[in-house]
Amino acid sequence: MTKLILITGATAGIGKATARELAAKGHHVIIHGRNEQKAQKVVAEIKQATGNQHVNYLIADLFSMTAIKEMAARFNAKYDHLDVLINNAGAVLDDKRFETADGIEGTMALNVFAPLLLTELLLPRLRKSQDARVINMSSGTHRMAHPDMNDLNLEHVSSGQTRYGISKLFVIWNTQHLAAHLQQAGITNVTVNASHPGMATTNFGQSSDNGFWNNLVYKVALAIGKTFHIATPEQGAVTNVYLATNDAVKGVSGEFFNNKKQQAKPATGEYTPARELALWKYCMAKLQPWIDEN
Ligand SMILES: NC(=O)c1ccc[n+]([C@@H]2O[C@H](COP(=O)([O-])OP(=O)(O)OC[C@H]3O[C@@H](n4cnc5c(N)ncnc54)[C@H](OP(=O)(O)O)[C@@H]3O)[C@@H](O)[C@H]2O)c1
Repeated sequence: MTKLILITGATAGIGKATARELAAKGHHVIIHGRNEQKAQKVVAEIKQATGNQHVNYLIADLFSMTAIKEMAARFNAKYDHLDVLINNAGAVLDDKRFETADGIEGTMALNVFAPLLLTELLLPRLRKSQDARVINMSSGTHRMAHPDMNDLNLEHVSSGQTRYGISKLFVIWNTQHLAAHLQQAGITNVTVNASHPGMATTNFGQSSDNGFWNNLVYKVALAIGKTFHIATPEQGAVTNVYLATNDAVKGVSGEFFNNKKQQAKPATGEYTPARELALWKYCMAKLQPWIDEN
């Protein structure tokens, strides 16, 4: 069955590879990007490569909650349902901390708040699907995260990589919380899972400033990865494609999947149900202005 699939951050890397693979399987794919020219180019490339003409794009800067709301409104105006939402866009940002215009630390805005808000705003369309799936991109680096629950806007975290790891741990906690929330509300046709794509040779870390040695590691990892074909963006897309389409995971929700399509146990060292709830309440309180006016 052809699915309607929206993938954020699909103008490059793993998101683009996921979009191409899903289009090749015949699905209607909507790629999200922040640069219109780039998005148009990727749409043309995917149509050409797959022969599938059902490829469209949507634009939004995911640092802006208002832009996300506007994009969701454009989606809702055009489509009556959504089968799969892949919250793929994400990044490690500079060591120098920055806050978005909404007063949210940048990594938290892009990696944690953007997927949550987009999912909330598209939930009515997801509920119209027989088998709706939300996939949130996490990362293996969540295992190194030690969040301070009194500092959820990461004001006292000085490294971009540390902020990244914390954000990807929070993606897992929010995924678990949303899955439980949907189940409690009796919504059984929408599942939500988190995934780790493995280390893949993409633009990841190529433009952030994380200090001389870390910058060098990212550059070397890309060069070595490309030369030795260690992990291509296509390989990084494997779990996304599996979670989006495979019957084996129909109905599975609140889980974490590794880069080999296997259900895995996320790190539990920092986890408590009370922390998960505190994070959820913090995020939803911040997002309320964009959810309320819906
Ligand atoms: N690559 C890895 O080794 C690895 C490992 C673990 C997890 N991940 C996760 O996998 C996901 C995809 O990463 P990737 O490696 O494919 O990275 P990438 O090549 O840098 O692609 C990131 C995508 O997100 C978009 N994006 C970034 N910031 C945005 C913003 N503010 N607003 C809108 N779109 C934005 C980018 O748009 P532009 O094209 O305009 O830049 C691009 O399409 C991320 O969530 C990442 O954390 C990656």
